[in-house]
Amino acid sequence: MEQLLTRVDHLGLAVHDLEQAIASYRDQLALDQWEIIEMPERHMRVAVGMVGTTLLELIAPTSPDAAFAKFLAERGEGIHHIAYTVENIDHALERLQAQGVRLIDREARPGIHGTRIAFLHPKALHGVLTELVEHPKPII
Ligand code: CO
Repeated sequence: MEQLLTRVDHLGLAVHDLEQAIASYRDQLALDQWEIIEMPERHMRVAVGMVGTTLLELIAPTSPDAAFAKFLAERGEGIHHIAYTVENIDHALERLQAQGVRLIDREARPGIHGTRIAFLHPKALHGVLTELVEHPKPII
């Protein structure tokens, strides 16, 4: 079978308070380069930081309407999802759908930094919410 995933893109970590979480990573793990992205349309705030080539994505809800607010309320803070990079997300989704893989997003939607993303259902992967990410192609 042709390779689908090219690398681990990021880990999504659900937190209650973005500033407190950033302070924890800064003070305890010396990770002090964070970019904060406000996503009011998704009822969330995001902070992204790099560890080598892997991104950490801290996500905090701004209202109970955030997609992961229920997760946070029921399971508390912790690892929320893992994201993998794919070369072509449309092809990947087409292939997964043809295989009958349970998807949350049947079509890619815009993510941060010009990426296109889609989530697979956690039931498809033994309880792990999984995100696919296609990065914008460099303009030559
Ligand atoms: Co993510």
